[in-house]
Amino acid sequence: MEISLPLIKLATMVIIAMPLSFVVQGNQLSYNYYKNSCPNLESLIKKELVRLFLTDVTTPSAFLRLVFHDCQVQGCDASILLDTNNATHGSEMTSSRNFGIKHRETIGYIKSIVEEECPGQVSCADILILAAKVSVSLSGGPFIQVPLGRKDSTTSSPKEADAKLPSPTITVDEFIAIFKSKGMSIQESVSILGAHTLGVGHCLNIVGSLYNQEIRDNMNLKFKTLLTLLCPTESPLTNLTVVPIDMTPILFDNQYYRHILMGKALFGIDSSISRDPRTAPFVTRFAKDKRYFFETFSSAFVKLSSANVLTDMQGEVRRKCNQVN
Ligand code: HEM
Ligand SMILES: *[C@@H]1O[C@H](CO)[C@@H](O)[C@H](O)[C@H]1NC(C)=O
Ligand SMILES: *[C@@H]1O[C@H](CO)[C@@H](O)[C@H](O)[C@H]1NC(C)=O
Repeated sequence: MEISLPLIKLATMVIIAMPLSFVVQGNQLSYNYYKNSCPNLESLIKKELVRLFLTDVTTPSAFLRLVFHDCQVQGCDASILLDTNNATHGSEMTSSRNFGIKHRETIGYIKSIVEEECPGQVSCADILILAAKVSVSLSGGPFIQVPLGRKDSTTSSPKEADAKLPSPTITVDEFIAIFKSKGMSIQESVSILGAHTLGVGHCLNIVGSLYNQEIRDNMNLKFKTLLTLLCPTESPLTNLTVVPIDMTPILFDNQYYRHILMGKALFGIDSSISRDPRTAPFVTRFAKDKRYFFETFSSAFVKLSSANVLTDMQGEVRRKCNQVN
């Protein structure tokens, strides 16, 4: 296949970072789970993603955020992909915390391609993780080895989505606690927020920091002026405006860290980690050293995507990602 777009050329900068001694506690994820049942899985997904990225540059960022919002609620079990099946298990998309989540149906489309080649074998939860990790490398980020073997849930929980998905203005204490519960160090927690190197935010999520005195005082003046123009009222009049999170929203690089150090953080938490003495040293280091950021992000991503998963008989392999079998 010939690949000639700038996005892919950047993938030549890819570094390989595999957490050598990663142990997944109490479950059976493995690095060669589909070796026999679906040997071409990863190249199949990659081929589809290259096609999708060419038609819509927002797919990589959407997939990466989807992973966080899936894993944060009941673990990485594709619960976010379920449409409402009945009154007890409503769709997690009804939670306002999932505002701006896109491309759930694109995962369903990739699943249908995978089903043609390996029917009934590959879970939607694994497809989602693979789609995100391929998104990272195709956008110029690290090539991450991820263990597989997740099963899909038969339930979803809008209530848990409300409770567990963080507001953009959480405190650094809350931020550290979220990722500590997934086995991450503070350094890894700061690196996983580097996912904000990709994508955009809506005014709804920006006004919380823009109209907060403390953060406003620390904002770069030109940036504050720009944001005030884009999001002029504390209660947004429209949900149509999107603002890139850093200057290179389709490149996975360390620009995000430089950006927040300059007082150009879009969300409250991004500003907070650039100023808190526990997290700021890592922000500074990642801003200077892309390779170090990539290595740390890779191990953090494996922890994020392996925490609290369903394996073996604990779940099913859905035939369609948006409904239980
Ligand atoms: C405390 C943790 C986090 C908070 C408070 C947070 C908050 C947010 C908010 C408010 C947005 C903007 C959504 C919008 O307005 O459309 C956003 C976007 C995004 N987040 Fe996070 N986030 C967190 C952690 C993460 C993690 C761990 C990842 C992935 C590993 C992630 C990946 C993304 C991506 C890629 C976007 C851009 C989405 C797009 O362009 O469609 N975030 N985040
Ligand atoms: C709702 O769906 C779940 C999962 O398919 C099932 O276990 C449960 O019994 C259903 N509840 C009702 C009231 O139909
Ligand atoms: C924007 O979306 C939020 C969340 O869904 C909603 O509460 C709000 O009313 C919307 N605002 C406008 C102006 O449409």
